[in-house]
Amino acid sequence: MKIEALEPFGYEISDLDLKQVTETEFADIHAAFADAGIVFFRDQDLAPADHITLARRFGEININRFFTPHPDYPEVALVVKEPAQTTNIGGTWHTDHSYDDVPALGSILLAHEVPPTGGNTQFASMYRTWERLSPGLQTTLEGMRAVHSAHHVFGTKNPHQDSDDAGARRIHNADVADRLPDPVHPVVIKHPISGKKALYVNPQFTLRFEGWSDADSRPLLDYLGALATEEAELCEFEWRVGSIALWDNRATWHNARNDYQGHRRVMHRITIEGCALDAA
Ligand code: SIN
Repeated sequence: MKIEALEPFGYEISDLDLKQVTETEFADIHAAFADAGIVFFRDQDLAPADHITLARRFGEININRFFTPHPDYPEVALVVKEPAQTTNIGGTWHTDHSYDDVPALGSILLAHEVPPTGGNTQFASMYRTWERLSPGLQTTLEGMRAVHSAHHVFGTKNPHQDSDDAGARRIHNADVADRLPDPVHPVVIKHPISGKKALYVNPQFTLRFEGWSDADSRPLLDYLGALATEEAELCEFEWRVGSIALWDNRATWHNARNDYQGHRRVMHRITIEGCALDAA
């Protein structure tokens, strides 16, 4: 197994069959994952059952309530864009499941069908973003908490939740999203695996800082979003069939680029359960 550090962050791991990972190899993968929050693999031939077995090595599986499940394996969520569809899933900077009281640890996304060009996924590091803040802002943010929500993304109030495209319905259970209480999480967390400080707000699901109005919160949330996603800070992954991204939702954000109109892209995603988050 070969582990190569990527710039500006992340690791690509090769010479490995994820169906046959030894305990020692798994410990090395886990160490890379803990360090950077994102690990990529190439040329994997994983059937849904293998994908599930791999995910279970990281923790319990969280069955996504809103995405279309695989017809035979509900643990696997389908992230699909058909040629006739113009919007994509995940095409806004976010981290999965921050709208849950106990946010998911991470996700394992496997490429089954990719467009001839485009369809990359970008990642931003919340360790690095935290470190790049000035000490004064760090001190301010450390005492704060923020409100997150799924309502405006997956609920009935989102006019796009059922997709405005010609294709099949991709997002489900809007009524479940409507009933989810909006959780409050620390703005700066002590990462449950690495122990490092990480910024924990994101552009898609964070509504406001606790005790602040939406309007008061917006400029600071936008500033953090712009800082985190500066071009030079991003890690961008170009998918091939059999590529895998394993990311930590508490240490990274991601954004699926929607630059492949007229082509199909089919991904399988498994989400891993996490834990309640503690302030740094
Ligand atoms: C997601 O946000 O989980 C999907 C990312 C992608 O399709 O690249």
